[in-house]
Amino acid sequence: MKRELALEFARVTEAAALAAYKWVGRGDKEAADQAAVDAMRTVLNGIKIQGEIVIGEGEIDEAPMLYIGEKVGLESVDKDRYSQVDIAVDPVEGTRMTAQGQANAIAVLAVGNKGSFLKAPDMYMEKLIVGPEAKGVIDLSKPLMENIDNICKALKKPLNELTVVILDKPRHKTIIKDLQDLNVKVYALPDGDVAGSILTSVVDSDVDVLYGIGGAPEGVISAAVIKALGGDMQARLKLRSEVKGVSLENDKISAYEKARCEEMGLRVGDVLKMDDLVKDDEVIFSATGITSGDLLEGVKRKGNIARTQTLVIRGKSKTVRYINAVHNLDYKPEDIMELVK
Ligand code: FBP
Repeated sequence: MKRELALEFARVTEAAALAAYKWVGRGDKEAADQAAVDAMRTVLNGIKIQGEIVIGEGEIDEAPMLYIGEKVGLESVDKDRYSQVDIAVDPVEGTRMTAQGQANAIAVLAVGNKGSFLKAPDMYMEKLIVGPEAKGVIDLSKPLMENIDNICKALKKPLNELTVVILDKPRHKTIIKDLQDLNVKVYALPDGDVAGSILTSVVDSDVDVLYGIGGAPEGVISAAVIKALGGDMQARLKLRSEVKGVSLENDKISAYEKARCEEMGLRVGDVLKMDDLVKDDEVIFSATGITSGDLLEGVKRKGNIARTQTLVIRGKSKTVRYINAVHNLDYKPEDIMELVK
């Protein structure tokens, strides 16, 4: 993948964040998501790539845009010369936070060579993630507390200096308490485990570990960025009934999830290692803040001048760039202007 594409992909998440920003605090998660999807798709279709969405808004029959399998990129007679890439998107990672005007919502995308990302169904996933210094010591088939001990050894830190990020969900209540009883510092985020994952592997953060159950699509996006940053991740697909409890509705969804896994050659509960999740580190990752959070500043806007902050990572060189941009929305191309103004 050409390195110049990094800036093109930064423009994709910038547009998604600017479009979603219009819906910050308006109480409508669907509208925020739709606005970001439209913007992301419009900008992707102007880039010289032959792209396929492999992690997206859902299956073709449930998502009219950025569905799994959708082809994106500039239509041109030259298109056979463009790189063939797989794309994982989450136009709004933190739809609830966006709708409620809360911290930590981001627009994200990861791009890899054809076939590099795990094609996972939209279900739950248990995730254990560490930064480069603890690479190679995690093993999800072992108890969490054994992993915590091994991570402490690798980082040469006592338990009371370890920081773990986890989603603040009822399913994690006991784990949060157990970790706190061990004197581990726990950051319990209301939502948004992609941002939490990245915090384990960037230099300006005190987070050492992410653990917990979140979305599988978000898990693959996290794996892409963690691989690009040289960290480590293991994961296990989980059925809704295992996470949310047994009920008629959850059992029905779980049966569908099991069938989708079989079709995709995956087994629920198997430990997926980094190379199963993302095959090579030639990944470009971009995230733009929608609302300000631990990772990125959110969109700030005065009239038609808007400021964005974007994190762009190239896995090949391991360069991490923070791009602060000031946009004059009056001068955007017409199709983008409509979506962001
Ligand atoms: P959305 O933006 O799709 O709402 O995702 C937010 C999120 O917190 C993810 O970061 C996480 O992986 C997932 O939801 C957890 O799912 P649930 O809210 O069902 O526990």
